Amino acid sequence: MTPDMLQPLMNAVPMPLVLIGGNERVLAANAAADDLFGALERDRHYVTVLRQPSLLDCIEDALRGAIQRETQFVRRDATRDTTYRAMAAPVRLDGRDGVLLSLEDIGHVEAAVQMRRDFVANVSHELRTPLTAVLGFIETLQGPARYDDSAQQRFLDMMQREASRMSRLIQDLLSLSRVEAAERQRPTGRIDVAGLITSATMTLGPLVQETGVTLEVLGADDALEIPGDADQILQVVTNLMENAVKYGDQRVEVTLSQDDRDPVLRAPAIRIEVRDDGEGIDPIHIPRLTERFYRIDNHRSRELGGTGLGLAIVKHIVSRHRGRMRIESDLGNGSRFVVILPRS
Ligand SMILES: Nc1ncnc2c1ncn2[C@@H]1O[C@H](COP(=O)(O)OP(=O)(O)OP(=O)(O)O)[C@@H](O)[C@H]1O
Ligand SMILES: [Mg+2]
Repeated sequence: MTPDMLQPLMNAVPMPLVLIGGNERVLAANAAADDLFGALERDRHYVTVLRQPSLLDCIEDALRGAIQRETQFVRRDATRDTTYRAMAAPVRLDGRDGVLLSLEDIGHVEAAVQMRRDFVANVSHELRTPLTAVLGFIETLQGPARYDDSAQQRFLDMMQREASRMSRLIQDLLSLSRVEAAERQRPTGRIDVAGLITSATMTLGPLVQETGVTLEVLGADDALEIPGDADQILQVVTNLMENAVKYGDQRVEVTLSQDDRDPVLRAPAIRIEVRDDGEGIDPIHIPRLTERFYRIDNHRSRELGGTGLGLAIVKHIVSRHRGRMRIESDLGNGSRFVVILPRS
């Protein structure tokens, strides 16, 4: 097969490919390789066109030993580095051993590693803050407040608050990892969404009283059944309602309704809409709200006992139920969180 015949075949492959002949010269390269290395001149010695040392060693080993070799290749440009897994595989051409070099973009693997690194850093930071406080209180109780009954009570109360915070964070992390682990398994039960909204309203009773918010629930008088996991959908409803009460101002409205055909799911669906009249959310934050630990005002959320995991958990649960979530907000005019779940 001549290089002319090879060219269209190689161009059909999306990953960069370079074919080096037994004479150590570039026989052919596909369009992706020309993009990556900048128009590779054919018939030149590969050393003069592929200049990265790790790549050259790898090709040389494959040529000499007729064995497959692998290395990493990093392409640097002005804005970012992209890492590729480069593989040099021996191929027999015209009675001599050549090499086919292929490069696989492994940026997504790096991104996952980076995400895990960020996650560990976030968790450590979130745990360290209350832990430092507890250690400080213990020191005070052992020292200056040793014989002061009222101070002791105060410090114990504060320690309890901080320890509860840590415990909640751990619970939320476990909940998130359980939800993620089961994300690809469809829920098997049937649940009454109206009943779950009523349960969430009762759970949030003390918070509603404390904040003085008026909570109104519409459309949840009659049972409304859908396939789902009751604990998880309760978690979704509670999280959204709790956020609305915490970040809203005076009034929160929860509406349950049905739609014969949701235009995106293309199926009959139910809609749970949670609306508040708080400050609202700047549009730049909206796409990031469901990221773990993402909070618009860290300090305020923390004061309100938040871990920033609520919406991340909601997102995974909704996705497991094959539903979707929409967040809309008019800065200064409150927010609206809508969860749409298929009815069958
Ligand atoms: N109804 C809302 N109005 C304004 N901002 C909101 C609303 N709901 C969520 N947010 C913003 O989104 C952030 C993330 O919400 P999320 O529920 O994930 O975390 P949290 O409420 O801070 O903590 P947690 O839910 O773990 O207690 C919040 O910190 C807040 O800044
Ligand atoms: Mg929340």
